[in-house]
Amino acid sequence: MSSFPSLPESEQEDAKYQNICNNHKHLLETLPKANGWRNPHLYNYNGFWLNPLVLKTNLLLHTYFKSHPTDIFLASFMKSGTTWLKALMFSTLNRHRYTFSDHYLHKHGPQSTFPLLDAESYPITDFTTFSHPRLFATHSAHTLLPPCISSGKFVYVCRDPKDVLISKWMFMSKLRPKDLPLLSLDEAFELFCLGVSEFGPFWEHVMSYWRASLESPEKILFLKYEEVKKQPEVVVRKLAAFMGKPLTVEEEKKGVVREIVKLCSFESLRNLEVNKKGVEKFGKLLEVEKQDFFRKGEIGDWKNYLSEEMNERIDGIMDDKFRGSGLSLRATV
Ligand code: A3P
Repeated sequence: MSSFPSLPESEQEDAKYQNICNNHKHLLETLPKANGWRNPHLYNYNGFWLNPLVLKTNLLLHTYFKSHPTDIFLASFMKSGTTWLKALMFSTLNRHRYTFSDHYLHKHGPQSTFPLLDAESYPITDFTTFSHPRLFATHSAHTLLPPCISSGKFVYVCRDPKDVLISKWMFMSKLRPKDLPLLSLDEAFELFCLGVSEFGPFWEHVMSYWRASLESPEKILFLKYEEVKKQPEVVVRKLAAFMGKPLTVEEEKKGVVREIVKLCSFESLRNLEVNKKGVEKFGKLLEVEKQDFFRKGEIGDWKNYLSEEMNERIDGIMDDKFRGSGLSLRATV
């Protein structure tokens, strides 16, 4: 038994929080840093480039997040189709709760359906009142997440890195503060190839989930944006089964899969009034014009921006990074 009187619980909590803040401050002073796309600097934490706020949130997440075995996580590298998958997963899981003519997504849009773990204000954020299964999104690499999270299930969506690069460069350029010099495509390309962009390196991010999905296929469903685009109905069936709610014969007969795909299509989501105006707030991390989540929604738009030399350089990096893994993100069209 300790001979010292223990601190009251609230003071212990304060001390715990203060420790994390001090650790965060220390990390910002000591970690390798590089130019950011939206922030002046990104910091390399356990192999991944994070902005200062995400780094702090990650430390807090490890201390405060309490997982539940029924949790379902949507993980993605930014600009890989997160918004689309939020809509698909939410409407597939909740297909018994809403009609397709008067749907939750019509009024609220897809973003609010999955809190972004990397942007929440811990310890204030409390997910205990959420109904189960709880849905969460994250842009963090698998290896950066607290181990307790692996009790839940993950859907990971990845995308051709060339399309991710263009989409991310355009998106981040809009968010970049005016007092920072413009980030040219050449600079963004160079940084991306070096792995330096929020939550990057892209290659290691993808591999973290790819490896985990090979180890536990029943826990991690690995999807490609291109595959969702080409065969959305097949993917909806996969999602339904993976999330524990396989489509019934009756639902198939009623065309439920087709309805979900239609509701979540690029045109449908982009044209919703709720997605046309206003901003989406992700805690203190990000404020985004809602319409900026819907740009072109195409495969291969990179061809309008990248030279043949740039194309070959990214292919070379992919060959190198994914060699022997069984994964390929090379364009097939
Ligand atoms: P582009 O910038 O190439 O158009 P995220 O949601 O992860 O931020 O990804 C954004 C990308 O997904 C953008 O790509 C966006 O246009 C595209 N997108 C958004 N909704 C989509 C949908 N319903 N179907 C296909 N692509 C979609």
